[in-house]
Amino acid sequence: MLEIQALHKDYQGKRVLDSIHFSIGDGEIVGLIGMSGSGKSTLARCVVGLEKPQAGKMLWNGQSLNDKSVRRKSRRDIQMVFQDPRNSLNPAWTVKRSLLESMRQFHGTRSAAAHEHMMEGLLTSVRLPVDSLHRYPHELSTGQCQRVCLARSLVPEPKLLVLDECLSALDVSIQAQMITLLRDLHQHRQMSYLFISHDIAVVASLCQKIIVIQQGVIVEAADAHTLIHNPRHPYTRSLLADTPTLPEFTYASEEREERSLVL
Ligand SMILES: Nc1ncnc2c1ncn2[C@@H]1O[C@H](COP(=O)(O)OP(=O)(O)O)[C@@H](O)[C@H]1O
Ligand SMILES: [Mg+2]
Repeated sequence: MLEIQALHKDYQGKRVLDSIHFSIGDGEIVGLIGMSGSGKSTLARCVVGLEKPQAGKMLWNGQSLNDKSVRRKSRRDIQMVFQDPRNSLNPAWTVKRSLLESMRQFHGTRSAAAHEHMMEGLLTSVRLPVDSLHRYPHELSTGQCQRVCLARSLVPEPKLLVLDECLSALDVSIQAQMITLLRDLHQHRQMSYLFISHDIAVVASLCQKIIVIQQGVIVEAADAHTLIHNPRHPYTRSLLADTPTLPEFTYASEEREERSLVL
């Protein structure tokens, strides 16, 4: 579905992404892991079109995302959820207004009743009570705000969700609930995820494939089980050594694939 080939990104002459290659298949959950400053967010922004790479190909179902009309059409297919949910929501808007804004953009021709119905469905699917519609961000917890952001990202019925450190602002217990929610959403909607994190335990508990990035270079990519149990690159090993408790691979192992990512 998404194919990235030989992507380069420089900031002020400094190479931040170097020869990035990877692909995400239909319905796949791909994790991207690396330390702070390794280029994860830059890559995410390139994928969703917030940033322009200096070189490389990004193909969406075989069509180049550098092509303006393809990029425009992809705006509904590729959605992003950011790290800080409070910064992603307008503090002066109720949840309803935030969702409506996106609905008008993507489903402008539908009736008010259809919008209402859709909003209720979205809130239910992210496990928020329907009366959250009338709340302002400051009346919600950070975790609830992130659920609102997730609901809003689902408005255009995307094919790919780019989740950039979307759990990092949340307490560990809330993170676990969000992981369960992300699994459920993945099962009920035909979506792929590019799930970005610096926390290998979180990535391992959710993702089917994992890509490891170090200083803008992909050093290893494999199915989750192989990467965790048989890491090849010293950097991957050092990340694992820093993570004493790895979760059970409930999800990754169910959908386990022996095939390595094509690099
Ligand atoms: N807008 C920008 N201008 C200049 N440098 C940037 C910009 N955004 C990111 N960088 C630099 O690019 C590198 C990668 O950053 P980033 O993609 O945010 O990494 P990560 O998300 O993995 O922490 C860092 O060295 C960062 O300082
Ligand atoms: Mg980042």
